Amino acid sequence: MTTSACTVPTLADERHAAPRWPHSTVLPLGVLPTAPACVRAHVRLVLAEWNMASLADTAELVASELVTNAVLASTDADGHPLYRGGTLAMVYVRMLADHARLLLEVWDTSPAAPVPMHAEPDDENGRGLQLIDAMTDKWGWTSVDGWPGKVVWAALPAAPERPDDTAG
Ligand SMILES: Nc1ncnc2c1ncn2[C@@H]1O[C@H](COP(=O)(O)OP(=O)(O)O)[C@@H](O)[C@H]1O
Ligand SMILES: [Mg+2]
Repeated sequence: MTTSACTVPTLADERHAAPRWPHSTVLPLGVLPTAPACVRAHVRLVLAEWNMASLADTAELVASELVTNAVLASTDADGHPLYRGGTLAMVYVRMLADHARLLLEVWDTSPAAPVPMHAEPDDENGRGLQLIDAMTDKWGWTSVDGWPGKVVWAALPAAPERPDDTAG
C-alpha cells in the first residue's frame, strides 16, 4: 500500500495539538470558491460562542484573506481546484483563543510561501497580506512536520468583552 504524500495534518496529533489554549476549533474546507464565505460565517459564529464577538469584523476579514490565498494556492494553472488521488484538496482553518488573544491558522497543502507585495493604488491584487499585517498584532507562516504544506497564521489581541448589557 502506498501512502499519499498529501495526507492531511492530524491537528489532534501531539505535534500539532494546542493543549494550552482553552478554546480551539478546526474547520476543514474543500478548496472551492465558496470557502471564504464559509469561513467568514464560521468565524462569526464561533466568536459569538466564545464571547469574543467584538473581534468578529476583523477576524472575518483576516480569515477570509488567509483562506482566499490558501484556495488560490491549491488550484492549477487554469484555476481549477487540485485533486489528489481523486480527492479534492482541503484547507483547514483552526481558531485558538485564550483571554488575551485569538490565533487564526489556515493550513494548506501548497509548499509555496506567502510573499507580501507592495501594491500600488491601481493594482487590483497584492493587498491581502498588507491588510492582514495592518489588522493583526503579528502574522507569519511555518512549514509543518510530516506533511508537504504549511500553516499561515495571524494573531489578534482579544478585547475584554463587556458582560451582557441587557442583564439586570
Ligand atoms: N497560502 C499561500 N500559499 C502560497 N502562496 C501564498 C499564500 N498566501 C499568499 N501567497 C503568495 O503571496 C502573494 C501575496 O498575497 P496577497 O497579499 O494576499 O495578494 P494576492 O492574493 O492579491 O496576490 C500571493 O500572490 C501568493 O504568491
Ligand atoms: Mg490574497
